Amino acid sequence: MKCHKNELKRRIYEKKGEKLKKKKGQTMDANIDKAARDIVNAKKIAALTGAGISVESGIPPFRGKGGLWESFDPMEYAHIDAFLNHPEKVWDVLLKGMKEIMDRAKPNDAHLGLAQLEKWGYLQTVITQNVDGLHQMAGNRDVIEFHGTFAINYCMDCNRIYNLSEITLDQLPPKCTCGGIIRPDCVFFGEQIPHENIMRSFEIAQNCDIMLVIGTSASVHPAAIIPSSALESGAKVIEINPELTPLTGRTSHYILKGPAGEMIRQLISKIKSIRE
Ligand code: OAD
Repeated sequence: MKCHKNELKRRIYEKKGEKLKKKKGQTMDANIDKAARDIVNAKKIAALTGAGISVESGIPPFRGKGGLWESFDPMEYAHIDAFLNHPEKVWDVLLKGMKEIMDRAKPNDAHLGLAQLEKWGYLQTVITQNVDGLHQMAGNRDVIEFHGTFAINYCMDCNRIYNLSEITLDQLPPKCTCGGIIRPDCVFFGEQIPHENIMRSFEIAQNCDIMLVIGTSASVHPAAIIPSSALESGAKVIEINPELTPLTGRTSHYILKGPAGEMIRQLISKIKSIRE
């Protein structure tokens, strides 16, 4: 009798779970539908992207499960003082590994989908916090690299520029022909964001009618407040992220809750069918 009761309970839970899954699936389909319609009716769209958009390209994020800051203390490896005091350690532990991963990475369906949105004329600018260059590789032409880029490196003494492929990492830190230390052209913690990046990004946020916010935990300022600047200027903010963020339900109007590659693939196919 007890066993029978338990079996009954299990079946009830299973049915409830199935119903919940079905309901979630229906909500997601409805949100994809809504986002596709919002996009085709918009005049100016901007996207703000973060590390999450490159996860499906094999690049780990910074926060959350499997994130870089789970294994490395950012103050010990990603602060400018850490780099200035121990450039060999920062290159060895953090930058070298990131370079190797980024060398292999290719754009995924999310990057390619954003490039398609630009080709169709819906998306004007991508503001990215990423330093991996995957948006440009996918085909987007107006990309603001808010936190700089890993593709360009320069000598801290004579400013000579080196592409990532020109640097050998046999001896760390890599050195310029003048003997100076080479650093990546990205923003370390404790450094200023280039003024031009801030000015343009906020100007774009204040003049778009949709902002897509993809794969960012919205926890690093000032990038984190770009979506609220868009919202305050009347834009609709649509998030794409498998997790809820501080923007969800406050700044964003709705969320496509799932991995960016999968969500954007569905979005693009929906837009295609609307356009036909
Ligand atoms: P985070 O690592 O803080 O957040 C990654 C976000 O991506 C999280 O919200 C995840 O839920 C989400 N995510 C994970 N997998 C995903 C997937 N497949 N598709 C979509 N989203 C996914 O990365 P950022 O917000 O970019 O700054 O971090 C901001 C800044 O913090 C970085 O630019 C870097 C870092 O410290 C500097 O180095 C200055």
